[in-house]
Amino acid sequence: MAKKSGRSLGEIQRGHEVYMLHCGECHRYKLPQDLDIDEWETAVPKMIGHAGLAFADEKAVLSYVVAVKMERGEK
Ligand code: HEC
Repeated sequence: MAKKSGRSLGEIQRGHEVYMLHCGECHRYKLPQDLDIDEWETAVPKMIGHAGLAFADEKAVLSYVVAVKMERGEK
């Protein structure tokens, strides 16, 4: 999964953790397949602000979502 997306495994794991901890707090979990990659790229920075998370977490969550989507061959 890390190989296909060109992102480090550590970052993807970190993104998964942050996602599981915070991204279901205010609404049901939005799943990787719910949005296209470009929509995720717009949504995640807004959500990091909502959740009060750091820029590194923003990058990690995005890496996680994109890695899942690429693994599945989604756009
Ligand atoms: C503090 C509350 C809160 C947290 C925490 C939160 N969200 Fe949201 N989220 C919202 C609200 C409010 C909206 C709808 C309005 C908006 O777009 O700001 C939303 C909308 C969304 C959408 C929909 C955008 C669209 O166009 O359909 C996505 C995707 C999303 N959130 C993902 C996430 C992810 C990923 C995380 C974890 C990093 C997260 N959210 C954490 C409050 C939150």
